[in-house]
Amino acid sequence: MNTEQQIKKRRTFAIISHPDAGKTTMTEKLLLYGGAIKMAGSVKAKRSKKFATSDWMELEKQRGISVTSSVMNFPFADHEMNLIDTPGHEDFSEDTYRTLTAVDSALMILDCANGVETQTKKLFEVCSLRHTPIIAFINKMDREGKEPFDLLEEIENTLGIGVTPITWPIGMGSRFRGVYHRLENKLLLYDKDAERSRPVPLKDLSLDSQEVIDELGEELAETLMSEIELLDGAGDGLDLEKYLKGELAPVFFGSALNNFGVEPLLRSLISMAPPPLARTATEREVDPYEKKFSAFVFKIQANMDPSHRDRVAFMRICSGKFVRGMKAHIVRLKKDQRLGRPTQFMSQDRSLVDEAFAGDIVGIHDPGVFKIGDTLTEGEKLHFTGIPVFAPEHFVRVQLKDPLKSKQLNKALDQLSEEGAVQVFRPINNNDQILGVVGVLQFDVVQYRIQHEYGVQVTFVGLPYSAARWVYADNEKDLEEFVRAQSHLICLDQHGDKSVLLDDLWRLNFLKEKFPAIRYSATSEKI
Ligand code: G4P
Repeated sequence: MNTEQQIKKRRTFAIISHPDAGKTTMTEKLLLYGGAIKMAGSVKAKRSKKFATSDWMELEKQRGISVTSSVMNFPFADHEMNLIDTPGHEDFSEDTYRTLTAVDSALMILDCANGVETQTKKLFEVCSLRHTPIIAFINKMDREGKEPFDLLEEIENTLGIGVTPITWPIGMGSRFRGVYHRLENKLLLYDKDAERSRPVPLKDLSLDSQEVIDELGEELAETLMSEIELLDGAGDGLDLEKYLKGELAPVFFGSALNNFGVEPLLRSLISMAPPPLARTATEREVDPYEKKFSAFVFKIQANMDPSHRDRVAFMRICSGKFVRGMKAHIVRLKKDQRLGRPTQFMSQDRSLVDEAFAGDIVGIHDPGVFKIGDTLTEGEKLHFTGIPVFAPEHFVRVQLKDPLKSKQLNKALDQLSEEGAVQVFRPINNNDQILGVVGVLQFDVVQYRIQHEYGVQVTFVGLPYSAARWVYADNEKDLEEFVRAQSHLICLDQHGDKSVLLDDLWRLNFLKEKFPAIRYSATSEKI
């Protein structure tokens, strides 16, 4: 198979959901279909095994949650699926957001009883920054939940995206009988015993037939028919163009736990979800089918394995082919680097890869040279864009227990911010070091690492800020005036860029009104 065919077969996607909606369960089922795991329960089992092999993940083990995202790769129907996992706990880190910059599409899982929840909304917003195509799966239909029409309306209203149901539920909770597949015109009948769930293709291609009544009974058949008529009448057809632009979400209903409705979803990832897409660099657009290799680093993870103290840099291949041991040019450093010990991840197990193609994610041994956002090429000067830093929402001031350790502390903060584990803000008015994160749990991780990896004892003092914005102005004078007037709010981030820390968004509106020449950005591209 040539490189172009290999690339076309790839689907690189992430699952976005609120904790408890069923992401782990869904991941497990997807891997089962891919034959990547044999037994239900393996995802969780392997997770705990992995925790045990890692140092600061000891912390995660204690809390019984996953803090770091990982990449899983499995085959399905002659395609290569790359699923990037995102932390599932309520507290999540910037990594979760940045992971979404490495995928071509996303799968959004909603709990039918809870609809669109806060974390889903946040992750959705990051996807919509990049117009990432999204397929929605409404899970737990074997339990009582909101009315399907209400759920659709909720998605449209809260997320501002159109919806088109591909499968439609027949009853729910204890009365759940299955789904009707609108594109394939067939019933998928549900049985608690997943093995006994079965598809019923409608012979005379009509819902209005004795066959349907025989299967569902008169009442359910009638309800189903009138609901489908309503959907058809609403003209919610599947417009692939719109889906690919991130404007329309195809919706599936089912139950991940009972492995119901998962297969049609997986098939749609192959038939609808995009293969690796072109990526924008400052200089030009890079086509995945270009011969020459290019990639960007979106995540750096330290100490995955305590026997190697080094880091792993995760990169998304944007074009061409990667070969184990190849040399690539790190554009920022203007130097070549051998890409050693490349790994891919099969449901948390690391395995060495010999070659990988555009769309794939590989983890490369990082002797400390890579930075998040780095572009790698075969020599061309390219800078991939769209891998931003996201404004933190939680802030603490660092207090050093032993003032003689300030050098080590600075080193720790420099390295941890390079990895993207934390953001450092330095007020222009004093010598404080303020740390900012997206998910509050990250503070524990950072404190643990500063202590264990750098031998520095620190305490964190909570600060009342809830947002940061980077500030820009077309005219340098306007910015200077703003900084002078608001100096008590201004900090320099780890790159020396100016930002304001805000206690609430009300203050932001106040500033916008008072200083209209200033642009306030919730993301910064410089990493
Ligand atoms: P998450 O990764 O998104 O946090 O969710 P996870 O898959 O862990 O699922 C959260 C809970 O919801 C689990 O129950 C899981 O079994 C349940 N669940 C997932 N899909 C379905 C479904 O389709 N129907 C029903 N009825 N339940 C579902 P738990 O009791 O919290 O965990 P566990 O003890 O089963 O592992």
